[in-house]
Amino acid sequence: MTSTDGTVDGPRLPGDLETAITPVVVADPTALAEAAARWTAERIGRAIGDRGTCYLALAGGATPKGCYRRLAQPPYDRAVRWNRLFVYWSDERRVPLDDPASNYAMARAALLDHVPVPKDQVFPLTQERLPALDRVPKDPSGLPRFDVIHLGIGEDGHTASLFPGSDALTERHAVVRAVDDAPKPPPHRLTLTLPVLNAARAILVMASGASKREALARVLRRDPALPASHVQPVDGELEFIVDQAAFGR
Ligand code: 6PG
Repeated sequence: MTSTDGTVDGPRLPGDLETAITPVVVADPTALAEAAARWTAERIGRAIGDRGTCYLALAGGATPKGCYRRLAQPPYDRAVRWNRLFVYWSDERRVPLDDPASNYAMARAALLDHVPVPKDQVFPLTQERLPALDRVPKDPSGLPRFDVIHLGIGEDGHTASLFPGSDALTERHAVVRAVDDAPKPPPHRLTLTLPVLNAARAILVMASGASKREALARVLRRDPALPASHVQPVDGELEFIVDQAAFGR
């Protein structure tokens, strides 16, 4: 049940952090793009098959770009029923939508300009109270329940725009939080909150490169000090696809 101010009553927090996670480790960024595109297309197909539509939240940063470019190529460019997709973002930088730093702009250039997702089914995260989020089907506690959410991991263990020590991390009611002091530029951002991430049916976390090795190892061990460790779907699938450089061992 969603209150008039856009908050969601009643948190749905996962219990204790699950045990360690075993990621899918692939050779390099190209293999990561391939595996992530295949995983994503399967989940999109499943959602459309089961419910007729797919509500998808894309990730920002550089790592998912390869996956988005791959989804714009055969066989996915024709095999995916793009007209049944509703596209959102798990976070966004508060910059103009045509700014090179915009997560929306990245996904547009890599994917959305090349596949037939209807324009009125693409919802950039431009404000804390985004009416289009009300269209996302709800879970029993009233949280938007995305079919697929993409996330990355930062070197400090952040995910989406949920940074270590940020009070947005402890948000239990709002669907979206503004972050104005992000340690990763640009500082002003918008992010889906943990309860919404954890209400998803399927989450894919992508990580690439040696710079992510320490954070990834801690997140896979579910180190509670790192925000990405708290990504734990309550009733859904969690997959990590990472390259060898990020995984290390
Ligand atoms: C953002 C992201 C952020 C990102 C990580 C990893 O807007 O910056 O959503 O959470 O996923 O910082 O970024 P890279 O993929 O660029 O390393």
